[in-house]
Amino acid sequence: MLNDLDKILISEDQIKSRVKELASELYKDYGPDEEITVISIINGAILFTADLVRNLPGPVRIDCIRVSSYGDETTPIGEPKITSTLSLDLKGRHVLLVDDIFDTGNTISKVYHYLEEMQPTSIKTCVLLEKKARRIVEFEVDWVGFQIPDEFVVGYGLDYAQRYRNLRCIGVLKTALQPA
Ligand code: IMP
Ligand code: MG
Repeated sequence: MLNDLDKILISEDQIKSRVKELASELYKDYGPDEEITVISIINGAILFTADLVRNLPGPVRIDCIRVSSYGDETTPIGEPKITSTLSLDLKGRHVLLVDDIFDTGNTISKVYHYLEEMQPTSIKTCVLLEKKARRIVEFEVDWVGFQIPDEFVVGYGLDYAQRYRNLRCIGVLKTALQPA
């Protein structure tokens, strides 16, 4: 799989230490006793969420939401669609929405507004990556792991055509492997 990368953008060690840092920032912000309801946008945020919550020593509940906007292409196909429901009740809870990457902003803002309707006490957002150059939605996330350039990346949960999610680093896919 590593041979399919043009370059490694973020190494496994860099990811590990930044995830730890993010978790301690979250822990400091929420405090030791506040229960956080973590909502992970799957499949992309699976790995990030798993590592993030393992570094949170306080009480956490976890649920997942499935959103689809990409097919086998590297550009989004229309509006993101929420294709699953949550099983946890969010009313009166502190919600932390977690995603792999904040790209155009469509996905996070769509899910954010969906969660708002469930009347949580608060909603904060945390993404591992942000591609500032591609923003089209006015929305600010609360925690960002890394700023990255406008390149299509895979690994650590991020896929191309459902592959490469299990790479331990994050890298830029060779252009020849991307659709024309
Ligand atoms: P947004 O709705 O444009 O912000 O896109 C967010 C979603 O697009 C993420 O949850 C990813 O699944 C996907 N995405 C955006 N950029 C990339 C990329 O470079 N590699 C893989 N997936 C990406
Ligand atoms: Mg995704």
